[in-house]
Amino acid sequence: MVNILCTTGRIRTEALKTNMGQELFGIARNKRWSLNGMTALVTGGTRGIGYSIIEELAEFGAIIHTCSRNQTELNERLKEWENKGYKVTGSVCDLSSREQREKLMETVSSNFQGKLNILVNNAGVSVGKVILEVDDEDMSYIRRNNFESTYNMSQLAHPLLKASGNGNIIFISSVSSSIALPVVSLYGAYKAAINQLTKNFACEWAKDNIRVNTVAPWLIRTHMIKPLEEYPAGREFLNSLLSRTPICRTGEPEEVSSLVAFLCLPAASYITGQIIYIDGGITVNAGGFDPTQI
Ligand SMILES: NC(=O)c1ccc[n+]([C@@H]2O[C@H](COP(=O)([O-])OP(=O)(O)OC[C@H]3O[C@@H](n4cnc5c(N)ncnc54)[C@H](OP(=O)(O)O)[C@@H]3O)[C@@H](O)[C@H]2O)c1
Repeated sequence: MVNILCTTGRIRTEALKTNMGQELFGIARNKRWSLNGMTALVTGGTRGIGYSIIEELAEFGAIIHTCSRNQTELNERLKEWENKGYKVTGSVCDLSSREQREKLMETVSSNFQGKLNILVNNAGVSVGKVILEVDDEDMSYIRRNNFESTYNMSQLAHPLLKASGNGNIIFISSVSSSIALPVVSLYGAYKAAINQLTKNFACEWAKDNIRVNTVAPWLIRTHMIKPLEEYPAGREFLNSLLSRTPICRTGEPEEVSSLVAFLCLPAASYITGQIIYIDGGITVNAGGFDPTQI
């Protein structure tokens, strides 16, 4: 038996000498790696990354509410999840509307008796345009859908997250928040704003037992990047981006949802205010390293 100096460590070491101790340690470990009975709101869960986050959280035992703008697609997903035995409800909401956000949070509060453990601000949209083509409408569209909605949803969720005694916010940002990429100047700028929010929210709400973290993906195979795959110039552009990515491929939604779930677990209880890139290594490759030449 290893002699551990720290008091709690020694107690654990002594306890592990007995079967009962091993059983208790097992229970404690299971609790640290479970979301059993925890409540979650995942925005934009009908497709892509949001869909995968719902499945991951549900597998860990969470009870989830989601939203999107398309009733038919939402109903199809809810039926699928019901068949899989997941506890997922949903409502139609356009997150760019303050009135609809407020209505959504009322529904969530009523479903979950005023307590919410997890808010995943996932829904987002993009506009692909060079700087001189961006107009006022694009500015308003990206600001309302990607920034105002996320900020305000977090404000509206605050009383519920606080009431749970163990709250978590996950923002979904993007690699475009930290490196210059063609045609996404506006999108990248608002994602960068979300990175900054992570730090402010984490510091201001730590006293309320709310942790706040951001996950920033690179190219993930969803509807959002599908248009690129559909025409030769798009595919060429995609390939040129991937050729500079150390792991030379796009990511899968499941490779994002696993980190989101981890950050919500009690096992991650000391992590807050962090921006974590899921990027196949692109953000650490300043361009001098060509993975295809090795
Ligand atoms: N895929 C990538 O390569 C990538 C990379 C970096 C970051 N991200 C970020 O990851 C998040 C998810 O993206 P994704 O690739 O999974 O996109 P996606 O496949 O297009 O899915 C987006 C989801 O959000 C919903 N949504 C969009 N706007 C909404 C609104 N105003 N109100 C309510 N629901 C809305 C969509 O449903 P409806 O359209 O039916 O409303 C859908 O369920 C976004 O924040 C995105 O910026 C994606």
